[in-house]
Formats: sequence, C-alpha cells, structure tokens
Amino acid sequence: MNKESATTTPSSLLSGLRALITGGSQGIGRAIAESFSQAGASIAIAALRDHFLDDAGEALKCKTIGLDLSDLADTERAVKDAVTALGGLDILVNNAAVVTPSAPVETTEADELQLLLDVNLRGTFWAMRSAYPHLKQRRGCVLNVSSMAGVTGQARHAAYAMTKGGINALTRSAAADWGSDGIRVNALCPIAAWTPALRQWADEQPNPAEIASYLNRLPALGYCPETNEIAPVAVFLCSDAARFVTGHIMHVSGGAEVGYRL
Ligand SMILES: NC(=O)c1ccc[n+]([C@@H]2O[C@H](COP(=O)([O-])OP(=O)(O)OC[C@H]3O[C@@H](n4cnc5c(N)ncnc54)[C@H](O)[C@@H]3O)[C@@H](O)[C@H]2O)c1
Repeated sequence: MNKESATTTPSSLLSGLRALITGGSQGIGRAIAESFSQAGASIAIAALRDHFLDDAGEALKCKTIGLDLSDLADTERAVKDAVTALGGLDILVNNAAVVTPSAPVETTEADELQLLLDVNLRGTFWAMRSAYPHLKQRRGCVLNVSSMAGVTGQARHAAYAMTKGGINALTRSAAADWGSDGIRVNALCPIAAWTPALRQWADEQPNPAEIASYLNRLPALGYCPETNEIAPVAVFLCSDAARFVTGHIMHVSGGAEVGYRL
C-alpha cells in the first residue's frame, strides 16, 4: 500500500457519532478532527484560546471551545459545552498536551513538571471523569493520544514520558472499570509526526536536515509520518470496526521500537 492510499478515511465509519477532540486546533489533533469529519462524525474541538482554535473552527466548520486543561472546573465546563452543542457525546479524544521541556530529570524545573502533570495527566483524567456519564449513556469510547515516549521512555524528556506512561496506565485502568458500561478506552502512541509546530522548530535549528534525517531513521519503515497518517488509526479505534478492542495501547510508530537497529 502506498502512502497516499494509507491516508484515506472511509467516509462512513463514524457516521452519526458525536465527538469532542481536545487539542483539535493544531497538529495531530487537527488532523484527527478532519478525519473524524470526513468519516461522518459531528465534532467539537476544545483547545487553548488562540488564533489556531479560531482558524481550525472556521476551516472545519465546527463548534470550538476555549479550554485550559490545567483548570478542572474549566475542563468540566468544556465537556458540558460540547455535550450541549453536539446533543450528546459518543467519543472523547484526549489529544491536547504540553510537550516541553526537552530536559533530563536533573534539569527539569518544578514549574515545568507541575504544568506537565496538570495538563497531561490531571487534565486528561478530569476530561474522562467529566465525560463518563455522557459516554455511559451512549456506550461510547475514549481515545487517549499518548506517545511511544510513554512506552519506551525518551532521552531528555523524562517528565513528558512519565505523563504519557501514566496515560497508558489510566487507559488500561479505565478500560477495566468501564467495560461493564460498554465504554471502550484505548490509547494511540505516535513515535513522531510532522506537525506544523515540529516543522517550524526543526527549520529554526542550526541543522534542520540533520533533524529530519534523525526523525526519518527512527521508524523501521524509514520515514517520519505526516499527521494524516496518524489520524486514520484514531478513526478506526473509535469506530464500530474496533468494537471489541479496549484497554489497547496502539503503537503508531512505523516499527521504531522493534529489533536492535542502529
Ligand atoms: N507531534 C509529535 O511528533 C507527537 C509524537 C508523539 C505523541 N504526540 C502527542 O500527540 C498529541 C498532539 O501533539 P501535537 O504535536 O499535535 O501538539 P501541538 O503542540 O501541535 O498542539 C497541542 C494542542 O494541545 C492544546 N493544548 C496545549 N495545552 C493545553 C491546555 N493547557 N489546555 C487545553 N489545550 C491545550 C493546544 O491548544 C493544541 O491544540 C499530544 O498528546 C502529544 O503528546 C505528538
């Protein structure tokens, strides 16, 4: 299968379903929002209140919700707003996250650690908690966008990797708790993806070609994917095609973690 055909999303996989996508204003979250729309879902996106959110709302013609995940009351309110706007909730995609700093344990500052814990862990947990009664009503599902960093660890990203490992444990635990309610909970772990933010950061580095070459060497498949190669996996996991899949930590890594490769 070539790359072009791998990015297409069957148009009816999510038809009639209602989804809230956090961090849907940019990067992987925006690609997921686009793919969900193409697959027939009604969507709302919740993210930091900035021009990316406005632009995405305009482009996708969907409900936008300003949100600060580090604030529990704001998170609860955002879920409520989405339920009201969509008329219910079948799918919660917890994609929003803080990804900085790039630092090992010994140089990570207390405020940086706190922000990662507040947004990535506490925020994700609280969004799930807030969405639970609505998802229970619809026998819906949760998809947590985690990271391979939470599976393998990542050099110079200890605090970030820790939050993603926590999200994987939360995913399996909630799948165990909510299975009897018919709610599925899965996680999707990208290795890396060419988001606009990553591309801009790489371009600003002294040697962008070296960064691209490193990112391309990581996956066994030999290239760093575009975001639209990640999004169809999210569609699948939230669709009826995956109705017997729960508690699964899906590696979307191009085989980065397999074997003893140089
Ligand atoms: N891009 C990658 O290479 C990569 C690799 C592995 C995992 N991931 C994961 O994929 C997800 C998306 O990453 P991305 O690179 O597309 O991100 P991005 O930086 O492009 O976008 C982040 C999104 O999260 C939102 N956000 C950030 N802080 C928030 C807060 N406090 N409250 C509400 N929303 C907030 C932003 O508004 C934005 O919509 C993240 O969970 C990230 O950990 C990304």
